[in-house]
Amino acid sequence: MLGISSTSVEVNPFLADLIEAKLSPVSPARFCAAYERLITGLEVTAADTLPITGMPPTLVAPGLKDRYVFPVDVYSTARAILRSSEALEPDQARLLRILLGSVLVPNSNVVINGKGRRYRGAWQSKEKSRADLIASLDGAVDVAATDLTRFSDLPGGQHKVLRGDARTALAEVNDADVVIFSPPYPNSFDYTDVYNLELWMLGYLNSAPDNRALRQRTLRSHVQMKWHTTPRYASSAMLDATLEALRSARADLWNPNIPEMVGFYFDDLCRVFQQVARILESGRHVIVAIGDSQYAGVHIDVASILTESLVGLGFQLTERGAIRSMRNSSQHGGAFKLSEHCLVFERT
Ligand SMILES: C[S@@+](CC[C@H](N)C(=O)[O-])C[C@H]1O[C@@H](n2cnc3c(N)ncnc32)[C@H](O)[C@@H]1O
Repeated sequence: MLGISSTSVEVNPFLADLIEAKLSPVSPARFCAAYERLITGLEVTAADTLPITGMPPTLVAPGLKDRYVFPVDVYSTARAILRSSEALEPDQARLLRILLGSVLVPNSNVVINGKGRRYRGAWQSKEKSRADLIASLDGAVDVAATDLTRFSDLPGGQHKVLRGDARTALAEVNDADVVIFSPPYPNSFDYTDVYNLELWMLGYLNSAPDNRALRQRTLRSHVQMKWHTTPRYASSAMLDATLEALRSARADLWNPNIPEMVGFYFDDLCRVFQQVARILESGRHVIVAIGDSQYAGVHIDVASILTESLVGLGFQLTERGAIRSMRNSSQHGGAFKLSEHCLVFERT
């Protein structure tokens, strides 16, 4: 962070740990020595093979209907590494947990992207083993140690990670020079789903209600959850017109709750900006990376709707640049190109 102090807000506990792991200085030599001792003495116990309470039944073999994400020895080895890591110093344990998280999907029977999870082709003949998992983790530890050594001279700064829902957690922040964030896009990309394997395997979720509670705290950017209806907060003529067009196209939408979700999404963003308006003095800036979406041919022009909605909350758009064009998924209506923007708002 080049000596700049920061406060981050993240609701997903795995991603919050990822942020904290990147911000915490750890001695590479001591970390590698601790890891070496852990792996050399690793014992997989019967408890490590047990299912986690509330986990999806497909997480480990035999799974459900002949489908499962991890073979038993990969699952139990990962659980044993996690259990053993708890004896390390907290910064080392967190870093190891994150590195273990980075090698879980490559050592599973599935691949994951924004559209969800799918089994690898002919996965039954390509299953990974305990040795594969440990070899991947060795590689990840080497990369981390190289980075820790390479960047150890950079100035640090004071860093705080607020683990929670930005709509409420920002109440703990009183001032800032600048606010930078990339919220979820209204594209039904559900981060609790995308990181579900890591969340379960690394001990962040311990019951099915934990999973639901985490989903409930995420911004309303997806339809995998049935959201509580709340009164409209965002005020924008373009939002009203977009919601009307979506309601008219409801029969063609892949999920009938999309129009409401899109409205809630802008309400949630405005709730975040309401906090930011309190935190920032006039003349200070907010930098937001955000993307458009499209459902049944209705374009959600996120940048323009947000710009309109923020005027009443005390923000004026001062710069707008394209970051990249995203390919729309076939599920969302074909090969349309959607923009991802970098928006700069000034606190008026
Ligand atoms: C587009 S990603 C950006 C990730 C990261 N900040 C970056 O810029 O690379 C959106 C992030 O918002 C997080 N998120 C979703 N709902 C949230 C909420 N209510 N409060 C805080 N963070 C939330 C997701 O877990 C995800 O990490």
